[in-house]
Amino acid sequence: MTAEKRVHDDADTLAEAVAEALIERLASIQASGRVPSVCLTGGTIAGLVHRKLASSLNGFDVDWDEVDFWWGDERYVDSHSDDRNARQARGDLLNHVDVDPERVHEMPALDSGLPLEEAAEAYAAELHEHGGGAFDVVMLGLGPDGHIASLFPGSSQIDVDDRVAVAVTDSPKPPPERISLTFGALNRTHAVWFLVSGKEKADAVARSMGDLDLHAAPATGVTGQGEVLWWLDRAASGAE
Ligand code: 6PG
Repeated sequence: MTAEKRVHDDADTLAEAVAEALIERLASIQASGRVPSVCLTGGTIAGLVHRKLASSLNGFDVDWDEVDFWWGDERYVDSHSDDRNARQARGDLLNHVDVDPERVHEMPALDSGLPLEEAAEAYAAELHEHGGGAFDVVMLGLGPDGHIASLFPGSSQIDVDDRVAVAVTDSPKPPPERISLTFGALNRTHAVWFLVSGKEKADAVARSMGDLDLHAAPATGVTGQGEVLWWLDRAASGAE
């Protein structure tokens, strides 16, 4: 699959372009009579995209209660913690549009009382219950170290191929305990959209678009089934 770059001037115009493209994609899938399924991520640029989605006038083109929302990874903290990717997405987007709570598939939180391994299994079971999770769009941020979701370079979770969700106990980026989808799950998507802004990510972008192996550049393992787009600002593209 050839990865395509979409370079925008700065984080703001980048986020706006991603939001408009997602609205168009969701609306067109709904027009074809299907309920779209999108996998969200955490991070700064994702937050900005979510706020743009919530404030876009074109957002009215989407029936938000007819969209399935999933997460690529989650920090294993209490449900009310501001560290939670899902809580951020709710504050930035999901609380501002008319979603169907049944279609918002958050990963379990620490206050579920589940041990981390079981929490990951519970999310895998939820995905299986909904057809194994075939996504239309998976959005992923990229860390300066090259991590995507909570799959960190050199980590053992990268080699997991018998489960769709894994426990992470030693994340180098705090908090240490997380749940992440595996490559098997992340690749069950039509489109993969990497969202990256900032000069400090330029090296990681270059490595991720090269021919390094999964352990050196985990993003190389997410190719999806149809479309790979790198949404970048000029700084992340290495142009500055
Ligand atoms: C997390 C995020 C993480 C994020 C990247 C990029 O749980 O920590 O899901 O994978 O997407 O680290 O984050 P920034 O956009 O904030 O750099």
